[in-house]
Amino acid sequence: MASISTPLSFLSTTANVSAATSSSFTLFPLQPKRHRYPKSKRHISKVSCNNGGDDNVISKGNRRDVLIGLGGLGAAASFTYNPFAVANPVVTDQNSCGRPNLPAGAKPIPCCPPKATNISDFVFPSNQPLRVRKPAHLVTGDELAKYKEAIRLMRALPDDDPRSFTQQANIHCAYCHDSYALDSTLPPQVKVHFNWLFAPFHRWYLYFYEKILGSLINDPTFALPFWNWDHSDGMDIPAIFTDRRSSLFDAKRNANHQPPVLVDLDWNRRGVDTSGEVDKNYAKVYKCIADVKGPACFFGSSFQAGGGVSSAAGSLETLHNTCHSWTGDPTDPNGEDMGSFYSSGRDPIFYCHHSNVDRLWTIWKEKFGGVDLSDKDYLKSSFLFYDENKNLVRVRSEQCLDQSKLGYKYMDVPILWKNAKPKPATNKAQRAALAPTPLNPPNLPLVLNSITSFAVKRQFKSRRKEEKAEREESLVFDVAFDKSKDVKFDVLVFWKGDPMQATPKDREFAGSFVNVSHAPNAKDTTVKYIIGITDLLDDLEADDEDNVEVTLVPQYGVVPVTINNAYVSYDECSFKK
Ligand code: C2O
Repeated sequence: MASISTPLSFLSTTANVSAATSSSFTLFPLQPKRHRYPKSKRHISKVSCNNGGDDNVISKGNRRDVLIGLGGLGAAASFTYNPFAVANPVVTDQNSCGRPNLPAGAKPIPCCPPKATNISDFVFPSNQPLRVRKPAHLVTGDELAKYKEAIRLMRALPDDDPRSFTQQANIHCAYCHDSYALDSTLPPQVKVHFNWLFAPFHRWYLYFYEKILGSLINDPTFALPFWNWDHSDGMDIPAIFTDRRSSLFDAKRNANHQPPVLVDLDWNRRGVDTSGEVDKNYAKVYKCIADVKGPACFFGSSFQAGGGVSSAAGSLETLHNTCHSWTGDPTDPNGEDMGSFYSSGRDPIFYCHHSNVDRLWTIWKEKFGGVDLSDKDYLKSSFLFYDENKNLVRVRSEQCLDQSKLGYKYMDVPILWKNAKPKPATNKAQRAALAPTPLNPPNLPLVLNSITSFAVKRQFKSRRKEEKAEREESLVFDVAFDKSKDVKFDVLVFWKGDPMQATPKDREFAGSFVNVSHAPNAKDTTVKYIIGITDLLDDLEADDEDNVEVTLVPQYGVVPVTINNAYVSYDECSFKK
């Protein structure tokens, strides 16, 4: 537990924060190299993330309300990009695939898959044997031999085979670096991070990858292992990936993070690179999975064709980000392979990392009352994947929600973090004794170049239990930064000690904003960081406070990170009330 007697020198006000100049934040994104719409027609408004367009929700900024206000479809007919104009499910169009938008210094690569003349709609295979995904640290003997052989055969396929190692890696590059346009006339591009496509896209990605590997070794029971980094036995890089002679090896990994060094799910890249700590990791996983109720807070913000550029990562994605950067090679300017999205699919561990992320989605639903999204723009969103027979298949998000229909399950492993709820470092009385003066509101826009504390006004306090259950209170930050750069800052609430001493084991540690390098052009778009705080405030005995006292602790990030807004919301965590 962090000390509560540390001097409050960091907690004064925002006085040490310089105000952002307008040049540090531009509302006009640089578009990728392909220009499908006339330059003069590109008009991007700054959008505030809304409730996902659910018709039942009445709130400021509801997409369909705005649609009416703009005169309905007429607004889109001019081809001016109005993010509110027409929102539809994201549909991946193979013909729209173009060059990826890569970070500076990345070797130019074509990421698009071969074009198919025929695309079939996915149908659930009948009579498929169950595939049981096991923790990677328990995979040995025959199973390991099969896995290595499958990857060896995949590596041996020619690059233009859609099942090849290169093409499989490129799938991630194409979907994460703006290769697919959503529509031939409208930006933005298909993005599978910082929005609700994250979970279904990656589930489908693994589904086909696993089927391809199984077919290469003629074993329909082949199941992709999972990197069980939420279990003390699985927190280091699984041994199966570290044998240099194995097909599972990738040389572009952090040399300091080899077994027995444990992953640090709260890695701050500071000082001596020490091993992660089991309890801290459990607290982090608890916070991002068990502690999250509102669907937008878990899955991320809505993302639709024509639906707006605003985006927020869910806690599932945020949790997964750190493992990426922690695994990648820091001597590579972009952290290849795992530390950058265009290259991460080149490391076999990527798929096992995502297997665990996928498993945590299932655990959230089965053990912690999580509920899948029901918005039709989510359910109908679709992606293209080549299957094990080299046929291009269109899949929809709604088809992957029931994992059993896809024919796989996860081996039951004890969930050791299920009671790892963080403990408050101070109680109400201690806080009152320590900081009698209220903090000021944030000085916006706020360039986050030092530890900064401020107060965020709440609209309601001491709500009834039912209201709390219905509408999750959340703390929201509009964050502007260059997405091709890694960024992390922590958010503390009602923290009274030295902010550098706060850890995820403290209840006051509300969360971390984490970015892994991806498409750079989004420098200008503000993403949201949304943290559900209803239970948190109860646990801190702070539900009767007028303000949330916030401390932002920048951890790393070489570009200015600007907080354009900070507020409390009662809608952002939920698409439905
Ligand atoms: Cu698409 Cu782990 O990222």
